[in-house]
This record gives sequence, structure tokens and C-alpha cells, in this order.
Amino acid sequence: MTHARQQLTQVVAHRGASEDAPEHTLAAYRKAIEDGADALECDVRLTADGHLVCVHDRRVNRTSNGRGAVSALELSDLAALDFGSRKTREFWRTRDEEPDWVYRPEDREDTSVLTLERLLELVADAGRRVEMAIETKHPTRWAGQVEERLLVLLKRFGLDAPASAAESPIRVMSFSARSLHRVRAASPTLPTVYLLQFVSPRLRDGRLPAGVGIAGPSIRILRNHPGYIERLKRAGHQVHVWTVNEPEDVDLCIELGVDAIITNRPRAVLDRLGR
Ligand code: G3P
Ligand code: CA
Repeated sequence: MTHARQQLTQVVAHRGASEDAPEHTLAAYRKAIEDGADALECDVRLTADGHLVCVHDRRVNRTSNGRGAVSALELSDLAALDFGSRKTREFWRTRDEEPDWVYRPEDREDTSVLTLERLLELVADAGRRVEMAIETKHPTRWAGQVEERLLVLLKRFGLDAPASAAESPIRVMSFSARSLHRVRAASPTLPTVYLLQFVSPRLRDGRLPAGVGIAGPSIRILRNHPGYIERLKRAGHQVHVWTVNEPEDVDLCIELGVDAIITNRPRAVLDRLGR
């Protein structure tokens, strides 16, 4: 499957505007929408009681004040935690002092665990088109349940079966081709993004696994193998690059004509693009 080339390079907020607010929180996604991001990226995992929540790591230790694996906790356990109480090392490295919103009790809702359902509601209420790039995390462990729940939820919002891939405001991303194939089997028009950490020998010619339309290379691939991007495009794939935070990397993406830039700093990238 191929897609028509977009006019503009899309700016995708990675885990929300995650340099300005804690990743995967409503606060981060509200900020991304305010900043003008074209799309929001989120990672999804299943809780022990079958809810899809937006959490990157297998465990909640880094991003909340709790401990344990998401898959071993129920939604009510996660709801008792504060996902605004911890930050990544990168976050603190760039700041001299704690932003005042971190521990304000009135902001509690903004930093509680975010379900995918709540995020879809936020997007539905955005008042403009905001697309979503939803990444399935460790889908093999759940043998199809992550994708199954995802499609049920998308159906509730009328987003599971777009008329065409080009029209879909939703795309599903994964490092697992098997996960993307499950999604495509259930919903052939839903766009899928195959994430690439490095250029594997079997994909060197730029052709991705059958049925996957969009390539999601890391910025490291662009820096080290810029010619690979041309091969991906020649094979008919759109190119969505992650995670692009440095101005020189944004410039490289522009030079190579990528379709989407996934970044923790949507406003800064939009500025660089003159938007
Ligand atoms: O957008 C793709 C990117 O998020 C993949 O890496 O580890 O940040 O989920 P990760
Ligand atoms: Ca991700």
C-alpha cells in the first residue's frame, strides 16, 4: 500500500509536548494541541484488567510515583498514581528549576494515568483535525489482545475503518510487523507504520514487510544512511522519523523530504519549518 505524498511535513508530538510536560499525560497532549502539532504520538499497553493506557515503559517506575509492571496492575491501581511526579533525566537536564505545575493539586487530573479512550476524547474535542500515531508496545506478549482492544476502541469513535488510508486521522505504529499485520487483517484501510531502529540487511532495498505503507526510521538512520531514505521513498513508502529534537536534525529531515517529524518539541519544530 502506498500513500499520496503530503504537501506539508507533519509535526507529531512524541508522547505529547513531552519536553514541556510529563510524557503521556493530558497536560502534555493539551500543550501539543495548543502548540499546533498536526498529530500526537502515544504508546499503548494493556493493564491487567484489559484497559489500554498510554505508558511507554513496561513498568511505571520511571514515569510515576509507583512501582510495578503495567500488565500486572489494574486501571484503578494506576489511577492512584501521579504520572507527573517523575521526569526523564533528559527533562531535568534542560531545566534549572521545577516547573510550577508539577505538584499543583488542581493539575492532578492532568497528570494521572491517561487511557487511550481519554486521549481520543481530547482529540475529538480539539476543534481542528489532529491526527494520532498510536504505537503498540510489546504486542506479542498479549497475542493479539492489544490490537483487538485497540480496534474495538477505535470503532467506538468511528475511526477503525477509514474510507482510505490517506483520509485516516489514525495510524498504528509498531516495531513488530506481526502487530501491524494483525491490524491490517482486521482493518485493511488503517495506515500502518513499521518502526526501524537500524537498517536490517533484509530491508536494505527499501521495501518493507508486505502491506506496511509507512516507514518509521530513527533519526540515527537518517544521519548514518541518508541514502536509505531515498530507497524507502522509491519503494513507495512515506517516511516518518523519530525522535527529532535538534535543529540540525530537523534541517536534515527537511533536506531529505520526510513526510513526518516526530518530536518532543512540536512548537520548536513548527517554528523551524516556518509554520
Ligand atoms: O515514534 C516512534 C518512537 O516513539 C519509537 O520509540 O521508544 O520512543 O517508543 P519509543
Ligand atoms: Ca513510541
